[in-house]
Amino acid sequence: MMRCTVYPVVGRSFHKSSISCSPILNFIWQRNSFSISAGACSSNNYKSATDSSPLSGLESVMLEYIFGKKKATQVAHSIWKHVVQKGDIVVDATCGNGYDTLAMVYMVADKSCTGRVYSMDIQETALQNTTSLLDKLLDPDEKEIVDLSIKCHSKMEEVVPRGIMVRLVAFNLGYLPGGDKTIITNSKTTLLGMEAASRIIASGGLISLLVYVGHPGGMEEYKMVEEFASRLPVNEWICCKLQMLNRPLAPIVVLLCKR
Ligand SMILES: C[S@@+](CC[C@H](N)C(=O)[O-])C[C@H]1O[C@@H](n2cnc3c(N)ncnc32)[C@H](O)[C@@H]1O
Repeated sequence: MMRCTVYPVVGRSFHKSSISCSPILNFIWQRNSFSISAGACSSNNYKSATDSSPLSGLESVMLEYIFGKKKATQVAHSIWKHVVQKGDIVVDATCGNGYDTLAMVYMVADKSCTGRVYSMDIQETALQNTTSLLDKLLDPDEKEIVDLSIKCHSKMEEVVPRGIMVRLVAFNLGYLPGGDKTIITNSKTTLLGMEAASRIIASGGLISLLVYVGHPGGMEEYKMVEEFASRLPVNEWICCKLQMLNRPLAPIVVLLCKR
């Protein structure tokens, strides 16, 4: 049996009464049968919740993740696309090789040039890799909207101008793929980064985390992320995760939506 639970998540407009607690979708797969059921929601509330949720339209990408056909990063990008609009200001808290930054540029870049992507990493190699990816794939106007900094994400408020509220802050935790595996995110600075993100996220915005548990320190970091998310007040935040229960090392998608 394969079992995966998606906990409630809602985007720009929220239906507080219908989804403030308990799972909204349960996917259960057993011997070629597949079912999706609505947790505690009545069918009307379930419909209105899903109509306005960033999960609407994402069912197929989630199923592809559940069945191992889509990567967690692809699921995350699809969810971001439902929250982020052209002209938005967003933050890549761990720019690494630049793929998340690139995806964000495509989401926010528009002719008015109001969109902006603030990207950071603590290692020079990551900034170089991101710069060369952007140089290769973006035109000069698009590159203009990226602000790259060598900076710990705990200090993201030093990068994003004071008073600016952002639509998305994304953390892709762990080490740089293809890089030095000893330079890695850790519970202490990730917690400070999440706290900083929670102060600058706009209403209707999203803090997105991809958490890896297979490396030393990964499980501890994941526990911290879960504890932080669990403590956020339910009247201000909707927090959920997408986790494969029988693939214990698969990355976990954690979504913190600001009402
Ligand atoms: C999994 S990679 C990110 C992948 C990246 N988003 C991409 O699209 O290629 C994690 C990155 O987090 C960076 N990192 C580790 N600790 C950090 C911190 N405190 N602040 C910012 N970045 C950090 C690492 O240097 C590494 O490049």
